[in-house]
Amino acid sequence: MNTYDVKSIDEFVLPQALKNKVVTIIKSAKKRETLPDHMLLYGLPGTGKTTLARLIAKEFNVALITFEGAMLNSADKLTQLVNIIEPGAVLFIDEIHSSNSKVLEILYNIMEDNFLWLNETTKFLLAPLCVIGATTQIQDIPKPLYTRFIYKIPFPVYKEEELTQIIKQMVKAFKLSITDNATKIISKISKGTPRMARTHIQLLKDYAVIKDIPEITETDVQSYAKEYKIDLNLGLSATDIAILKSIGEYNTISARTLAIKNNLTEEEYLKNYEIFLIQEGYIDITRTGRMLTDKGKEVAYGQRNGNI
Ligand SMILES: Nc1ncnc2c1ncn2[C@@H]1O[C@H](COP(=O)(O)OP(=O)(O)OP(=O)(O)O)[C@@H](O)[C@H]1O
Ligand SMILES: [Mg+2]
Repeated sequence: MNTYDVKSIDEFVLPQALKNKVVTIIKSAKKRETLPDHMLLYGLPGTGKTTLARLIAKEFNVALITFEGAMLNSADKLTQLVNIIEPGAVLFIDEIHSSNSKVLEILYNIMEDNFLWLNETTKFLLAPLCVIGATTQIQDIPKPLYTRFIYKIPFPVYKEEELTQIIKQMVKAFKLSITDNATKIISKISKGTPRMARTHIQLLKDYAVIKDIPEITETDVQSYAKEYKIDLNLGLSATDIAILKSIGEYNTISARTLAIKNNLTEEEYLKNYEIFLIQEGYIDITRTGRMLTDKGKEVAYGQRNGNI
């Protein structure tokens, strides 16, 4: 199976200002012959946080040690850090906002002076570590944790031009052939995230194989979108539109009720749908719940319905 993997920082597409920031962080650490300072990566799911952590470990030729914040519920797992030798490692804690407070206390010491305190009297000096925390819920990061990260890197909702570049790399990795117009449409229906683009490409690959299509064209993407109920004009999925319609039935509605009405868990709704719909200006959060903006109303009440 062909796979897609961003191979280097060079290949990692980001908005220019952010890319410069990342490159500067890396260059400065290399010049100082050390690992970069600790960094917090935040933003929508599928925007490249895990990828960047992996690329930084690769760039500095050190191991990548990954923990899930929610699984890191005791200090025990952190004791394996004692075994790391020079030149150190990237300690990547995914969804770090879910780590419990006990673990965070231990982490604070690691981040401040590189000591792992096993108990009140026993401590170990660790090999150099670059702690990289990732979160899709920046608002849930406790202040003491937030302030210990030197770099805070916001991951964007990608623009169409950026996604087009990413899609071209993916298409190449999957050994597909695709027209520029088809690429443009895929970037439009990817909701600003490389992961969504990747999903579309992988599904389109199946489509091309089954139909013996040598080059994927605009028409192929259009019939694919129709099959998967994706609105080509708005770039929204059937679920996005259903969510907007269910908000439209109320003045305001809670995230929980909204999730239930659309057969989603509250977490799924919040992570995979709401952030994008807010950022794109379809929904507002008020004190009493979620409500539609004028743009959202246009979709919910039908004036801006696209092709479904
Ligand atoms: N900036 C980028 N350039 C090229 N490819 C990217 C970029 N960002 C992400 N990708 C690709 O998109 C997919 C998802 O990226 P990744 O897993 O790093 O996202 P994430 O932010 O960690 O998501 P989550 O919050 O769900 O953990 C991967 O296949 C990755 O290769
Ligand atoms: Mg990730």
